[in-house]
Amino acid sequence: MCGIIGISSNKPVSANIINSLKKLEYRGYDSAGIATLSDGTINEVKSKGRVDNLENNFDLKNLRGNIGIGHVRWATHGIPNSLNAHPHSSHNVSVVHNGIIENSTILKKHLINKGHDFKSQTDTEVIVHLITENLKTSELEEAITKTLKQLDGSFALGIVFRDIPDLIVGARRGSPLAVGYGPNENYLGSDSYALKSMTNKITYLDDGEFCVVKKDQVLFFNENGKKINKKILKLSSNESNYDKGDFKHFMAKEIEEQPTTIKTGIKEYVDNVNKDINIFNFPWKNEDIKSITLIGCGTAYHSCLMAKYWFEELTNLDVSIDIASEFRYRKNRFKKDSLYVFVSQSGETADTFAALDLCNKNNMKTCAIVNVIESSIARDSNFVLPIHCGPEIGVASTKAFLGQILVLYILALKLGSLRNEIEIKDYQEKIKDLKDLPGLIEKTLQHDNDIQAISSTFNEAKGSMFLGRGYSYPIALEGALKLKELSYIHAEGYPAGEMKHGPLALIEEGMPVVVLAPRDSYYKKTISNMQEVIARGAKVLLITNKSKDNVVSENIWETIEVENTNDDLLPFLLTIPLQKLAYYSALKKGYDIDKPRNLAKSVTVE
Ligand code: F6R
Repeated sequence: MCGIIGISSNKPVSANIINSLKKLEYRGYDSAGIATLSDGTINEVKSKGRVDNLENNFDLKNLRGNIGIGHVRWATHGIPNSLNAHPHSSHNVSVVHNGIIENSTILKKHLINKGHDFKSQTDTEVIVHLITENLKTSELEEAITKTLKQLDGSFALGIVFRDIPDLIVGARRGSPLAVGYGPNENYLGSDSYALKSMTNKITYLDDGEFCVVKKDQVLFFNENGKKINKKILKLSSNESNYDKGDFKHFMAKEIEEQPTTIKTGIKEYVDNVNKDINIFNFPWKNEDIKSITLIGCGTAYHSCLMAKYWFEELTNLDVSIDIASEFRYRKNRFKKDSLYVFVSQSGETADTFAALDLCNKNNMKTCAIVNVIESSIARDSNFVLPIHCGPEIGVASTKAFLGQILVLYILALKLGSLRNEIEIKDYQEKIKDLKDLPGLIEKTLQHDNDIQAISSTFNEAKGSMFLGRGYSYPIALEGALKLKELSYIHAEGYPAGEMKHGPLALIEEGMPVVVLAPRDSYYKKTISNMQEVIARGAKVLLITNKSKDNVVSENIWETIEVENTNDDLLPFLLTIPLQKLAYYSALKKGYDIDKPRNLAKSVTVE
């Protein structure tokens, strides 16, 4: 993770660097720092914690310099304090870094032997001293080429030089980096989001490349230091979406936006007139695909698990799912007739990107389901299905989860129909039901006061469990993940039928347990499992859907009834109360909802 910004301009840059760093905080918020160049000096300021701290601790308005770099950190090597905050500088070179240098220990020893002093515990500092050392014997481009070859691991770098004060060097291997073009100034950013408020003209660096950014010129080089030409892309930009509006937190806004984002997703893919799904330019024939592998991390992995149920129901394809960090290092048997689908909100998650890269290197068919269409995962996939959710800023994924499962559901339906594995009548019926989904989500969002009241019990508990079967099981996992990441309450998601094989031992008097039991084909079985936990003292919050029949069970603590729809679409509705439960429980605890501790939005380290 970590966020990088660099600006080379004909006017002072510190204010714009600070603004960009605030936008980049979703990538890390353990510490922040800036280095500018003026009058033959590197002016370096850095602080533990948020960018606000940096602003409070230093008089940044008077930080001089028309060229500078900035960084927000998500700690990997060394604790989050101001000493380990970036930039790291020698007398001549200042560096900001995103990624991990795997051979830093060996390099550090070698550099100490040559007389270099190290101040921090970071891996980044070796880069500073390597460049300083290489500049003693080589010109800039050669020194950079030499340095990058000495580094193992992944990095995006921004580098300024006291003695070459009119340029910033950027370099990329594994971690994303973009160049932006403005009037009388040019930029470097760890992604286009940081640059969007300043420009919509962007060039993405590819792995192994580096660039030299001056206020009026940008040059690109390959890994051997040979000059190359790169394309300038034009980004679509909609700044207003980045605003919290009247909401206290981005997460609250993003939860409430879901009827709209789902409506947009449906509009993009569903042809209501012809009762069909439009997936244009799908590059493969039916007979070319016999199985499908869905890969993601965290919430995106839960989307994959959800999709497995739908693909198995609606198609005859063999379906596997995988956590990207496991997939990338296992001995995989790549199958020519398999479609590999990569699910990611950011499109920058390092493990998911590495899994995609592995599939690409083995000439597999790759498809990305992403929110950020300019992202690395989108750019490197054979085919992209965007989720059209708009920017998601809250670290905990909400609207992107619903967006991902919507697109996965649509893909499953379409493949089922193209392969004649679903009856046309069912296909059209399911498309018709999709049209009502935004309205049903809207109604389900009205559960608010009841969830606020319930959240106090979760806050008082030592731990909690989330249970579901079938379609509700992935949602139970997602509900538990949301609660733990926001409220720091231990929460386990489990298939309800597994409880008796061990986890039932955890149930004790008063433990809050969320049971997802919509009235689908699993209903009766889940209710039996619910009774087993109630019998052992659990305080059960039952989440089901509306029905004229009462639930046949006693001693349920609380019940929330979501709206009614076909079984396939119930997971969308069951998710809403769980998002709100996590939100309100963190709100009551006074935690930082949009930036939970130890986390970051874009996970660009493995
Ligand atoms: C949890 C959450 C994470 C992400 C995961 C993958 O709320 O947001 O678990 O889902 O880090 O991120 P993307 O989807 O950007 O690949």
